[in-house]
Amino acid sequence: MKILVTGGTGYIGSHTVVELQAKGFEVIIVDNLSNSSIEVLDNIAKITGKKPLFEKFDLTDSEKTEDFFKLHNDIKAIIHFAAFKAVGESVQLPLMYYRNNLVSLINILQGMINNGIRDIVFSSSCTVYGQPERLPAREDTPIQKANSPYGNTKQIAEEMITETIVNENIRAILLRYFNPIGAHHSAFIGELPLGIPNNLMPYITQTAIGKRDFLRVWGDDYQTPDGTAIRDYIHVVDLARAHVIAVERMVAEKGKNDVEVFNLGTGNGFSVMEVIRSFERSTGIKLNFKILGRRPGDIEQVWADTRFANSELGWKAEKTLDEMTASAWKWEKALAVKK
Ligand code: UFG
Repeated sequence: MKILVTGGTGYIGSHTVVELQAKGFEVIIVDNLSNSSIEVLDNIAKITGKKPLFEKFDLTDSEKTEDFFKLHNDIKAIIHFAAFKAVGESVQLPLMYYRNNLVSLINILQGMINNGIRDIVFSSSCTVYGQPERLPAREDTPIQKANSPYGNTKQIAEEMITETIVNENIRAILLRYFNPIGAHHSAFIGELPLGIPNNLMPYITQTAIGKRDFLRVWGDDYQTPDGTAIRDYIHVVDLARAHVIAVERMVAEKGKNDVEVFNLGTGNGFSVMEVIRSFERSTGIKLNFKILGRRPGDIEQVWADTRFANSELGWKAEKTLDEMTASAWKWEKALAVKK
């Protein structure tokens, strides 16, 4: 069974391709390599023994997208990861984000309609909840106005999918990710941030390896036990496994609604300081860090209510925080050897 994975050479995409192949799915990746490397294909093959099919083009090109669907008329389902994802950059370049993230989705949905593809799994984010009034965040926690164009593209995309499905023979699963970290245990694939990382985990590992002088902890005056902000960190392989289950659910006709929404997190919130301590514990390295002021746009705390995903998907995140931080470090060391 052939699955199209857009953005399949990226961080979450590549881990999902590995899990799909392990379950016997045939994978075709479309990626424009704007934030990933072609070598990822060989690294996937090192893990699974099979190089996925690959086409390089930009999904905002409607003609190329339609030509692609005409040529590959045996695609059973789509997992759509391809998108820009840097919150700060989206504030600087909103149109670039709206064009890239939404035009590509329009072309994919149109391609599904034109070519009779019924199932799509969409990469959404817990950013749609903003700062929830009540925690943990459930799938029916109210959506709040996005605080960045990036976040808004996720909200609009969820709406576009939901509205399109009403009159078409299409079904969707919207997966709202919390904070994915870590890497495949083989250390053949992982996160490859371009330039200075924005996210916590790659910043920590780059500091530990000596690429950055110190980690800046953004704020210790939040209303949390240690004053630093709390997130629900989830191992990327646990997250990837959920995508395979989502695809299996759709093709086996097990879905209960044409659009289903699931939170993908562990259900546990950890503070920035707890992540630092976990990293130190799991690696034996002492991390340089400084406490600075809050980062604009950050929320104080969020973690997932995962009961619906656990019961409906029969899926549960398994890796502990120490396993996550250890695997992120293993990947950073593997990257250093490659260079
Ligand atoms: N942090 C630091 N120092 C850093 C980087 C991050 O203290 O150098 C802190 C942040 O302030 C935050 C926490 O670590 O409290 C996590 O920050 P990340 O940037 O790793 O993750 P965010 O929760 O800010 O953002 C992530 C994704 C977004 C998504 C968002 C949804 O990167 O794509 O979750 O909440 F929109």
